[in-house]
Amino acid sequence: MNAPAIERTLVLVKPDGVARGLTGEVIRRVEAKGYRLTALELRTATPELLAEHYAEHHGKPFYQPLVDFMLSGPVVAMVAEGQRVIEAFRVLAGATDPTAAAAGTIRGDLGRDWGAKVQQNIVHGSDSPQSAEREIALWFPSS
Ligand code: RTP
Ligand code: MG
Repeated sequence: MNAPAIERTLVLVKPDGVARGLTGEVIRRVEAKGYRLTALELRTATPELLAEHYAEHHGKPFYQPLVDFMLSGPVVAMVAEGQRVIEAFRVLAGATDPTAAAAGTIRGDLGRDWGAKVQQNIVHGSDSPQSAEREIALWFPSS
């Protein structure tokens, strides 16, 4: 079997995670798993950036609540690197719905349903090599 290629993934600590002081805990889990951060920035998203970032969700009922939520405060954007990091971070994050996410995952351990119009689930992680490439280019154009 060929050695797996080194991958990069975009991780976002969403506004709920930043507001709740969970940025360090997310970084701790990524680093403790053995991955390396190659970019990290605290920033506020813009409608234009989110329209591109969430292009796949245009037209869905949760789209506007999702954009409003992502604009509600600063996010921490980072790039993590290593073999199979895209898949690995999705496992660390857990299922989209924090109530159903397995214990041991970021969303399962730290998230809950707050009764909002959209699930506030602490983190985003790219879901494929193609998404990762596209999202890293959007959030870190110079990298
Ligand atoms: P993400 O893109 O943020 O890593 O999350 P994901 O792949 O697990 O979920 P995705 O289907 O891409 O949805 C993007 C984000 O939209 C919100 N969402 N809420 N029914 C709902 O309330 C609902 N569905 C999606 C979540 O914040 C989700 O992470
Ligand atoms: Mg997604």
